[in-house]
Amino acid sequence: MKPQVGIEALAFAVPHRYLDIEDLARARGVEPAKYTAGLGAKEMAVPDPGEDAVALAATAAARLLRRNDVDPARIGMLVVGTETGVDHSKAVASHVQGLLKLPRSMRTFDAQHACFGGTAGLMAATEWIASGAGAGRVALVIATDLARYERLGAGEPTQGGGAVAMLVSERPEVLSLDVGLNGTCSMDVYDFWRPHGRREALVDGHYSIDCYLDSVAGAYRGWRERALAREVVRWGERTPSEQLARILYHVPFCKMAKKAHARVRRCDLEDGAGGATLSPEALDGASRSETSYGTQVATSLGLNARVGNAYTASLYLALVGVLHAEARALAGQRVGLFSYGSGCCGEFFSGVVGEGAARKLALADVDGVLAARERVSMEEYERVMAMPPGEPPQATPAPGTFRLVGIRDYRRVYAEG
Ligand code: HMG
Repeated sequence: MKPQVGIEALAFAVPHRYLDIEDLARARGVEPAKYTAGLGAKEMAVPDPGEDAVALAATAAARLLRRNDVDPARIGMLVVGTETGVDHSKAVASHVQGLLKLPRSMRTFDAQHACFGGTAGLMAATEWIASGAGAGRVALVIATDLARYERLGAGEPTQGGGAVAMLVSERPEVLSLDVGLNGTCSMDVYDFWRPHGRREALVDGHYSIDCYLDSVAGAYRGWRERALAREVVRWGERTPSEQLARILYHVPFCKMAKKAHARVRRCDLEDGAGGATLSPEALDGASRSETSYGTQVATSLGLNARVGNAYTASLYLALVGVLHAEARALAGQRVGLFSYGSGCCGEFFSGVVGEGAARKLALADVDGVLAARERVSMEEYERVMAMPPGEPPQATPAPGTFRLVGIRDYRRVYAEG
């Protein structure tokens, strides 16, 4: 039997402030239903400059190692996926290594490709272990980002931030990955980008949605081809995508997952034996099935709806969210995952939820992390977002968290609570 590889444990961190999305809508003169029903948002993380990509990554990783009692000597690779790194050269991974006092005998690096960087890191770690190159060691993979758009712009209600840390090993108690089934679809497009020196992303919003949908269709078809060949799924009464217990999507805003799911269903309906017989209206209706969305997707969005976009971390927040909601029921079942990074690269992959997932998720303390946050007013949101990036407010980090406390001689200084 081939050795299993996948996620052994995970933990997450989010900024300590959040804004209710309806407060943002009212302040911007927008009907709140546009943000709640139209985008699927509830709350949005509001990071201050002390909660940068390094601080969130270190907080998530420290929680992971402490709560799961991980011996740091087991770790042979530390990879951070981020598009909001803090230096053109020095890796976020190096900062995390130093802050967590991890051993020197490991490979450390960052992976960047918009929101895809976390998945690039997860796959590098998984394939390193599966190839045997890891020689029994494990990898620490962290996805960490802050999503920031122009004030008053269309992207403003899709901001947020957070980090997810994952331990990847041959003991995948949370999710055993189907190595070798991944389907990818990449294109050279200008849908979303952030030129050097800019704090806010630039985005061609509606075009970015089209690019995401093209990419999910290509990546899903690639995964399906391999999954059919390996008889992981088959054409039959249920389409191949319906044979996945849940499908988790990259979540720039929750409604995007619904659009993506309809596109995946459409791929099956168009390509399957019955597709040719459906009228365009019937095809459209069957693609947008609320029943399928409710069963296969909706339960993964609870955490994303309360955090907003966290770029590289968003897909993995969906994983935390779905397992928080129903890990016990999903044990032993196969789920699909779609990662999208603008620019663009999309990857569809799958894995089987482990028997230990519920126990591991309890250690991630989802409710406790969310309950420790503070809701802020619109005035406070405006004040925090206007803070210069290099000048964090002087606040003592909460116990178990890290914060940027200043920049001296171009060197970033962090404190641990
Ligand atoms: P917009 O143009 O202001 O919104 O911004 P809209 O007019 O398209 O409306 C949004 C939805 O609300 C629509 O639903 C409306 O019908 C509905 P849809 O038709 O799409 O199903 N709506 C209402 N619903 C109920 N009651 C109402 C109401 N009014 C309208 N009263 C946009 C939307 C997403 C473009 C904007 O927020 C944006 O630019 N966001 C940032 C870009 C983004 O998130 N793109 C997603 C794909 S790219 C990606 O995922 C990568 C990314 O994460 C970055 C990376 O890879 O690094 C972004």
